[in-house]
Amino acid sequence: MVGRYPEYSQKRSGAFFTPHDVSEALVAWACRKPADRMIDPSCGDGQFLALHRNSVGIEQNPVSAHRAIERAPGALVHEGDFFTWAVETRERFECAAGNPPFIRYQTFKNEMRRRALDLCLDLGVHFNGLTSSWAPFLVATAGLLKRGGRMAFVVPAEIGHAPYAAPLLDYLVASFSTVHIIAVRKKLFPTLSEDCWLLYTEGFGGKANSIDFTVLEEFVPQKAPPKSVMKIDLGEWRTVWNRRLRPYLLPASVRHLYAAALADPGTRRLADFAAVGIGYVSGHNDFFHLKPSDAKRLRIPPTFLQPSLRNGRVMPEKEITKATVEKWKQSDDPILLLRLERDQELPAAVRNYLDSSAGHEARQGYKCRNRAPWYAVPDVQIPDFIMSYMSGRNVNLVRNAAGVTCTNSVHSIRIRDRALASKLLPEWSSSFVRLSCELEGHALGGGMLKLEPREAGRVVFPSKATIQMADGDELEDAIGSLQRWRHYAD
Ligand SMILES: C[S@@+](CC[C@H](N)C(=O)[O-])C[C@H]1O[C@@H](n2cnc3c(N)ncnc32)[C@H](O)[C@@H]1O
Repeated sequence: MVGRYPEYSQKRSGAFFTPHDVSEALVAWACRKPADRMIDPSCGDGQFLALHRNSVGIEQNPVSAHRAIERAPGALVHEGDFFTWAVETRERFECAAGNPPFIRYQTFKNEMRRRALDLCLDLGVHFNGLTSSWAPFLVATAGLLKRGGRMAFVVPAEIGHAPYAAPLLDYLVASFSTVHIIAVRKKLFPTLSEDCWLLYTEGFGGKANSIDFTVLEEFVPQKAPPKSVMKIDLGEWRTVWNRRLRPYLLPASVRHLYAAALADPGTRRLADFAAVGIGYVSGHNDFFHLKPSDAKRLRIPPTFLQPSLRNGRVMPEKEITKATVEKWKQSDDPILLLRLERDQELPAAVRNYLDSSAGHEARQGYKCRNRAPWYAVPDVQIPDFIMSYMSGRNVNLVRNAAGVTCTNSVHSIRIRDRALASKLLPEWSSSFVRLSCELEGHALGGGMLKLEPREAGRVVFPSKATIQMADGDELEDAIGSLQRWRHYAD
């Protein structure tokens, strides 16, 4: 199938089909009567359609659409793009169920994205260009419901933290009388690195004044969503938690402590005293990073070579010292960045290297082609600290005592207020700050924690008064729990 239709490859079209017990539970709840008309906006091979005769499915992949027709003979299957179909159809539905494609913004582009985002804008939802496909699928599907209608969907766990999930949730609470999200820790799709949660919405045309939230260790097939729910106050969700649901995975006492820290004027965020940025993008790592032995052989003068931390894996624990750099050099690691300025006079050895076949290959790359001169790597900084971007157990923050530069696979931290930094940074490995990294960052898959620069800037250094209220064991338990949610410690 992929060979015949490369544009429909599993990854590019988000084609991961739902386990039977999950689709059965969602359809059983969404369809109350045989006469209820159900829509699955991305029906794949008909997993959901086969469970309810009176249904309509849309599927862009012709092979899957034909399978759906065979598998669900009672249903009506339209082959094509859902957003095109949604703009044209006059049909309205009692219910919707399915599993929307999860296509990240890098692949979800061009015409399909434009159609999707325009349709959402017509429905009053503004998504930016970093939106994954599933969120517009849900908004556009809700727009096809009759008053009182329901939806039951598999959703990526990103609904709990992604910035683009916020406009979706705002739309859902403004359009349904009940919005219920079930966070499921164990994977619904065992072979996928993505975690999935479940979304149940009811009473289209109504308005919810809270988000119902249930936390489950694992999915248990049931005809209705679990009754035990936490009512998430929308005001608190918006103001305290930056419209994220992840904090609600934690016990209320821990959330209250964190909220108390945020409300205390003595509390600071990292961005209050430091600038978090990304390191440089060379445009051709192999060409721009030399091994000490190659630099010597090519006779590149040391003034044109800047030692660089190339990735988080080689970060020492506390400090990058001259001895650290010596060790890298001894192992002949390619850590010397060829650092050339725009209008600089270049010695023959450097010019020869730029004119070598490796240089000719490097300058063909996108980044190099789009800067002048192609060999001057921009944004090379010497940060005060370097922070890991993707982390295992803890987010590593190391002092840059050796004056190295760093690539964009780690974060560069430049201190703006030295007095505050020297008071607060020693707290980096405290339980509270580690919990804050877990809460402000997000799970990446494979057990990793990712902190974007914006998220890193939000890391909280609590006031003394809050620390005194904290129970260290409880904080450590909370960290352990969020690590289990990101599958670091299953
Ligand atoms: C996650 S799969 C789910 C399929 C099925 N509902 C299930 O759960 O087994 C998503 C499906 O969306 C389809 N798809 C992707 N983009 C689409 C679009 N613009 N319009 C219609 N279907 C689309 C993919 O081909 C894929 O079959």
